[in-house]
Amino acid sequence: MNQPYKDTPFDLTDRVVLISGAAGLLGKEFALAAASAGAHLVLGDLKRDDLESLKSEIASVYPNTKTWIQVLDVTDTDSCRSIVQLCEIRFNRIDAVIHSAAIDPKFERGSDTTSFSKFTKFPKELWQSSLDVNLTGAFLFTQAACEVMEKSGKGSIIFLGSNYGLVGPDQRIYKKAGQENQTYKPAVYSVCKAGLLGLTKFLAAYYMNTAIRVNLLTPSGVWNQHDDEFIKNYSSRTILGRMSEKNEYRGAAIFLASDASSYMTGANLVMDGGWTAL
Ligand SMILES: NC(=O)c1ccc[n+]([C@@H]2O[C@H](COP(=O)([O-])OP(=O)(O)OC[C@H]3O[C@@H](n4cnc5c(N)ncnc54)[C@H](O)[C@@H]3O)[C@@H](O)[C@H]2O)c1
Repeated sequence: MNQPYKDTPFDLTDRVVLISGAAGLLGKEFALAAASAGAHLVLGDLKRDDLESLKSEIASVYPNTKTWIQVLDVTDTDSCRSIVQLCEIRFNRIDAVIHSAAIDPKFERGSDTTSFSKFTKFPKELWQSSLDVNLTGAFLFTQAACEVMEKSGKGSIIFLGSNYGLVGPDQRIYKKAGQENQTYKPAVYSVCKAGLLGLTKFLAAYYMNTAIRVNLLTPSGVWNQHDDEFIKNYSSRTILGRMSEKNEYRGAAIFLASDASSYMTGANLVMDGGWTAL
């Protein structure tokens, strides 16, 4: 397939992109995006089967991309080190890291929302497991990757934020007509996403005077089989009047991973349909 970014600042030819949460809704999009710009991939997630099918899809669409997959648990130091080691063994470099692994409380059709209770009833175990994956996982995963980036003195780290890390969730949109016990987008999600903005700024500043850049990409409400009531409620809170499509973040991932964003660090690229501008 023709590589549309070849010889442009967006070109990722032969760059190595490491992605956590690669089997997720957006993680897959990031992998396909990086491959479309010529990158080689190392993909990690808890879900081996989904990684296998993503690898096959990439091989059929982008045959020049070398893809390695490995089961990854970002809460486990050894697991993070092991996938980084895979990058070193196979490619001896990491050019970009997209940290997409997360516990993201979903409100799609069929999602189990029973534990998304009111603030005073929210279970401590869910609070803790989200912090473990979303914040400690980000710390451990980038800690391992930075060891490699420090050797070359360059690289791009991309964390995933949310509009709910910038403003409080509008809980009215999670209320369903006729529902007895309202469900809520949990506080821990906002806390984690705000924390990742802090980690972005910390690491960007920490790598002062190097070419290691650290940025946050802030998506919001990606359509994925949500019901009509939710779509209507969510869309009414955006300027663009709709939820996003999962492929609408591909360009941003390529931009942040490539030299096109070479003068950008410590920043937050907000793609929320205007949610936070209203
Ligand atoms: N989808 C949205 O509407 C949306 C909106 C704003 C922000 N985001 C953020 O974008 C990122 C990607 O979102 P998504 O929609 O792809 O989420 P997703 O839930 O579809 O995917 C997350 C992936 O992370 C993996 N994962 C969970 N725990 C892990 C662990 N301990 N170790 C390794 N992998 C683990 C899961 O297996 C899953 O494949 C997340 O940080 C999310 O919070 C998503």
